[in-house]
Amino acid sequence: MTQNDKPLQETVDKKNSEFWDTLCGSQLAEQLGIKDDSEQSLKKFDDWYFEFYPYLYTHIPFAEMAGKRVLEIGLGYGTVSQKIAESGAEYHGLDIAAGPVDMVNLRMQRGELNGKAVQGSILEPPFDAGSFDWVVAIGCLHHTGDLAGAIDQVHRLLKTGGEAMIMVYNACSYRQFQSSPIQTLKRLYSRPKGIEEIRNTDGAEKSRGAYDTNTDGDAAPQTEFVTKSELSVMFEKYSISSLVTENIGEDGVFRAFERSRALKFGKYVGLDVYCHVVKTQSETD
Ligand SMILES: C[S@@+](CC[C@H](N)C(=O)[O-])C[C@H]1O[C@@H](n2cnc3c(N)ncnc32)[C@H](O)[C@@H]1O
Repeated sequence: MTQNDKPLQETVDKKNSEFWDTLCGSQLAEQLGIKDDSEQSLKKFDDWYFEFYPYLYTHIPFAEMAGKRVLEIGLGYGTVSQKIAESGAEYHGLDIAAGPVDMVNLRMQRGELNGKAVQGSILEPPFDAGSFDWVVAIGCLHHTGDLAGAIDQVHRLLKTGGEAMIMVYNACSYRQFQSSPIQTLKRLYSRPKGIEEIRNTDGAEKSRGAYDTNTDGDAAPQTEFVTKSELSVMFEKYSISSLVTENIGEDGVFRAFERSRALKFGKYVGLDVYCHVVKTQSETD
């Protein structure tokens, strides 16, 4: 897709706020037999979530967030949100859809936690520049329709010395190699020189649907896939601490493996890239 074909941001935002209003994870909650938002039901969901993504504890240093101003972008069922607030952080949540915001505010009120979520887009965030010590965005920024723009906004919102943990989808995971090996190899070895070469990497509907679908089976409106080289360009203003791939689905070559064993391959061909980055320079430097 070229810049000229790119849908209007307003259209993407509208589609996103409708699509994600039903919490991501709802299908799974249904499979777990969860029918309400009771404390017990949410605990069941959260226990499943951290067991299914065990590496989250490695990538999100919850304990370090105590006493810090933390912004989470893209809230879904609010599992990570609650954990951040329970760590003793001053929690702020931002999501384009109303459903996830309501869910997180329910969790904050019920747990008497120091936190609040608001509805809005990271592309036009309702916060002052330089106001956060930490930003956490798991599986969100690649859905905004402007991943590079969202990464720039996160930089603006961080204090100098502030850190971010951003998870985005890997354009060179085993899933991409299985569906289009030559194209994926080319992409793996491509070395973009500037942001113009990678500004929009939206996936086709079929690829998007392999990652996120709603209860009707529709694919997420927008999903960009990126390589580590592309991320290095997008994170130009930051100091990159680590880019680590994780996660293996239940599809393709890894079907035969138990999840705990399959996850070991995540470091090489995982579906997701966990990016730990630090804002080392102020915007004006
Ligand atoms: C795949 S879910 C991830 C939720 C959660 N982090 C998780 O891991 O379960 C993506 C979330 O990003 C939110 N989102 C999409 N575009 C956004 C934007 N422009 N600004 C803020 N949030 C956005 C969606 O509403 C949705 O809740």
